[in-house]
Amino acid sequence: MPTFTFVASFESILALGAVPILVDIDDTLTLDPKAVEAAITSKTKCVMPVHMCGSMADLDALKAICEKYNLILLEDACQAPGGTYKGKPLGSYGHLGCFSFDYVKTITCGEGGAVITNNAEFAKHADHYQDHGLDHVGKDRGAESHPFMGYNFRISELNAAVGLAQLGKLDGILRTQKENYTTLREALKTIDGVTFRRVPEGGEENYSFLNFFLPTEELAKKAHKALSENGVDACFYWYTNNWHYINGWEHLRNLKSLGNLPSEVKNQMQDLNNTDFSKSDAVMGRTISSLIKIGWSEKQVKDRTEAMKNAIASVL
Ligand SMILES: Cc1ncc(COP(=O)(O)O)c(C=O)c1O
Repeated sequence: MPTFTFVASFESILALGAVPILVDIDDTLTLDPKAVEAAITSKTKCVMPVHMCGSMADLDALKAICEKYNLILLEDACQAPGGTYKGKPLGSYGHLGCFSFDYVKTITCGEGGAVITNNAEFAKHADHYQDHGLDHVGKDRGAESHPFMGYNFRISELNAAVGLAQLGKLDGILRTQKENYTTLREALKTIDGVTFRRVPEGGEENYSFLNFFLPTEELAKKAHKALSENGVDACFYWYTNNWHYINGWEHLRNLKSLGNLPSEVKNQMQDLNNTDFSKSDAVMGRTISSLIKIGWSEKQVKDRTEAMKNAIASVL
């Protein structure tokens, strides 16, 4: 799993009694395929790219690695629904794809999520696991058996109904995001020193964020401060953010848990306080992400564009 993601990535791995192995990201802001291959051991089971902030990992390269070592490719597309890679929707390229519909996502149903797969066995396991391990055979819930232990990760029917209605709005949301994103990007690309996140060849973002780089960490910090002082909201500097980058995951680095973690997990965890993630740092330290809102009026987009340009130019 990547160093830049949401804490849910390692939570879900640890919940299974498996060991999360963190590897560097590159200028796609997602897993660096070379770092993935270097981290593979005889115990590796799965590669989990996380398509952060609207765009994807280099999925061809990751798929080739998974085929070479017989591993599962699980795409976390929670932050990029509607993005595509080589004509396929993100989440459908690997063996499994997962989505979140919490209240800040591109489409939301309040709370809830989904897993997609073409593999019948994975589908059956997901179906049973999210409902206490029940096999869902027959019409009498009390008569169902438990092929294995599961938990309650069920989405409620009310949330799911909202989710279905939201799905119908996805194309319109993506169109508006793309328009607003393009206006901002066209303006920022005129500033010397601003560059953009690399989108792998054949990929199309879902345009939920505009992610850009400043030349150095120091300038990125200054630009982030200037954006906020110029009244530009929803610009994130993930490098020091507690949710999305390893720097902020003190609880994982020190394995703080309310219960006992299995000794196999403890013994095989990386020493995350002393692992070299300087390649990730070199990218994240320079990254700023602007959320793209669909409720912005034309005037708001125009004002924001000017304010962003001025704020960034003032520190360069
Ligand atoms: C990349 C990523 N993965 C997983 C999740 C987990 O989603 P949920 O909180 O719906 O379980 C999120 C939610 O923010 C996310 O951003």
